[in-house]
Amino acid sequence: MGELAIAGGKPVRSDSYPRWPEWSEQERERLLEVLESGHWWATGGTRVPEFERAFAAFNNVGDCVAVTNGTHAIEVALMAAGLGEGDEVIVTDYTFFASAAAVLFVNAIPVLVDIDPGTFCIDPAAVEAAITKRTRAVVAVHVAGHPADLDRLVEICRRHDLALIEDCAHAHGSTWKDVPVGSIGDVGTFSFQESKLMTAGEGGAIVVSDPILGERVRSFADCGRLPGEWFYSHYALGGNYRMTEWQGAVLLSQLDRFPDQNRARNENALWLNDELARIPGVYPQARDERCTSQGYYCYIVRIDEEEFGATRDQTRKALIGEGIPMAMSYPAVHTLDAFATVDGFAPRLRNRSGLPDYANLDLPESMKAARTTLWFPHQVLMGDRRGVSDVAEAMHKVSQHAHELRDPG
Ligand SMILES: Cc1ncc(COP(=O)(O)O)c(C=O)c1O
Repeated sequence: MGELAIAGGKPVRSDSYPRWPEWSEQERERLLEVLESGHWWATGGTRVPEFERAFAAFNNVGDCVAVTNGTHAIEVALMAAGLGEGDEVIVTDYTFFASAAAVLFVNAIPVLVDIDPGTFCIDPAAVEAAITKRTRAVVAVHVAGHPADLDRLVEICRRHDLALIEDCAHAHGSTWKDVPVGSIGDVGTFSFQESKLMTAGEGGAIVVSDPILGERVRSFADCGRLPGEWFYSHYALGGNYRMTEWQGAVLLSQLDRFPDQNRARNENALWLNDELARIPGVYPQARDERCTSQGYYCYIVRIDEEEFGATRDQTRKALIGEGIPMAMSYPAVHTLDAFATVDGFAPRLRNRSGLPDYANLDLPESMKAARTTLWFPHQVLMGDRRGVSDVAEAMHKVSQHAHELRDPG
């Protein structure tokens, strides 16, 4: 293998990866149909309800409510589950800001806990240890599409009478023992933001099987209205979280295309797991055998910096030089300014009494994942086998040249 590209050598890859988002004539036609129908909002519309039915069937749940985005999906799910002032919600510390911020938006308290070092998902033992008299719910994120340990989480939540909310923003198409994620806890939430596995630019969905909870979700997402009642009756303090018909139209096409994309990502990721595991110091995200399909919002590997011979950031820079696109790991939530500084929640919350001392939490696995993981965007899994073999080759190359990347002294 020649010189590293960042040292003047030839990059492993010069071709681009498949474009994201993907679209076709189908989206164009459906969007034009919406335009010409003159009916652009979901109230009395057809595309959003059609997408809701299709996405409910895809996830094997009784109902789906399409909303504005994935953050609002969590917020509405929490409201519908009856969460409010002073309640504690256990949330993983290794996630996007929104999983925890949504808890604050309903005036509840996020209690951040550590992760499993293999899957990077919430650690059920840490959940159990964090339960107090005020705990009412758990938000489990399926990181990079790998399901959190749903067997243990369901058992813990049943035993302590807690609502289990599955944040499936990374996990469209993920299954646990062949059952779609989102259908296993009380409620599942999805995001359709542009980088996600299905997208309408923005968008979200809540999937639910319990009909009473489903009705509450629909009401909170639509200004507290109830189906069949007068338009100006508002029975609860809900908001306008409605998706538009434009988004519904695009998502119908995205869903049609999804199963083939998901198959390709899974096949390529499993191949890449085997290849990368051969390189000293490179540890692909663990895949539990109960994970029967992984949505792969991104592909994550942990770098053991000692063993690999270079830091995560040096490795990342060298891989980008080799023509491999890279995403970025989340920082640990408790280190974010909003959580770690005194007025980080102002003006919504000025008095921090009763909140955890976020800045001083000891969550070593979450910190380690934030510091040592490489995140590849899902596009690297979407092409032919060469797409992933280039990733493997670039990683081998960087590994062999790792000593050159080290800081002198
Ligand atoms: C794990 C997780 N939860 C929630 C969200 C929020 O979704 P949105 O950006 O659609 O509000 C995101 C992504 O953006 C996410 O990655």
